[in-house]
Amino acid sequence: MNVLVVGGAGYVGSLCGAHLRAAGDDVVVLDDLTAGHREACPGPLIEGDVRDRALVAGVLREGRFDAVLHFAARAVVGDSMAHPAETFSVNVGGTLALLDAMSSAGVRCLVFSSSCAVYGEPRNVPITEDHPFAPVSPYGESKAVAERILDLAREREGLRITALRYFNAAGAAPDASRGESHDPETHLVPLALRALRDGRELPVFGTDWPTRDGTCVRDYVHVLDLADAHRRALRALVDGASGGAYNLGTGGGTTVHEVFAAIERVTGGRVPWRAEPRRPGDPAELWADVSRVRRELDWEARYGLDDIVAHAAAWSRAPRY
Ligand code: UFG
Repeated sequence: MNVLVVGGAGYVGSLCGAHLRAAGDDVVVLDDLTAGHREACPGPLIEGDVRDRALVAGVLREGRFDAVLHFAARAVVGDSMAHPAETFSVNVGGTLALLDAMSSAGVRCLVFSSSCAVYGEPRNVPITEDHPFAPVSPYGESKAVAERILDLAREREGLRITALRYFNAAGAAPDASRGESHDPETHLVPLALRALRDGRELPVFGTDWPTRDGTCVRDYVHVLDLADAHRRALRALVDGASGGAYNLGTGGGTTVHEVFAAIERVTGGRVPWRAEPRRPGDPAELWADVSRVRRELDWEARYGLDDIVAHAAAWSRAPRY
């Protein structure tokens, strides 16, 4: 396949692009490097904004792409609270512009990065894809609106589109060639590894949740498993499937303390931490029902929590960017 990876200089996008390349696909990256890293790009980089319709349409026409992977987004939940308009502009406006460019260039297959944030505070866990959308942040809202727009494009224009709703993406390439490098970092696994290294206590947001040890439960899924799901979703679309929406998680939940325990198992060091009040907008438990993706894309997560931690730890010892 010949694939344009929009947002391919970022964490998940770069690892997905590298995975496609390793499988023999051709990959070109479009990224404005706002949050991405030049060094992370898995193929030639075209520097630009996804909202630039003329640029994107031109790139699509010239490159004769079979499909687009769309990762470009403002993805920090806290930032989206502070800057909702920017979040909607990039996450919704960017998706609209990309659809427009795809239509004008005749590219018909798209895999979109969505999030479990579309579900908000879940009514029940594990969460199935039919759970109603009830986002609690502008970030979640923006992904929900983008998915609605993509549904219409699939139904009305016959584009072939799949939305992949990630739970907690984590881990790094096993050879430590690519990994997570956000500024500021907000995700638990890299922050806990940093706390271990620096000896500075990590705040744990809430130790009084109604969970097995009082801390929040999340579904941590290895970024390489996400990459494999993207390739399967893309392959199905290029082969003629109409697409749909899938949860990407492991199908199980892990508490914050269980993440620390995994870090201690893998590294031998203890993560220093202190209890802090609950973080606004954090649901107690988020984990995925993955039966649909297993059934329809024959995908399931192969890596476990200890792999996630081992790969993230190796990357964090010597990050290349
Ligand atoms: N946590 C801490 N201390 C920290 C950082 C995180 O206790 O310093 C806890 C959080 O409260 C949460 C868990 O660790 O319980 C995971 O937090 P992350 O910030 O790593 O991830 P989130 O679950 O908040 O975010 C994920 C995705 C988002 C998505 C969101 C939906 O990263 O893209 O789920 O709720 F929007």
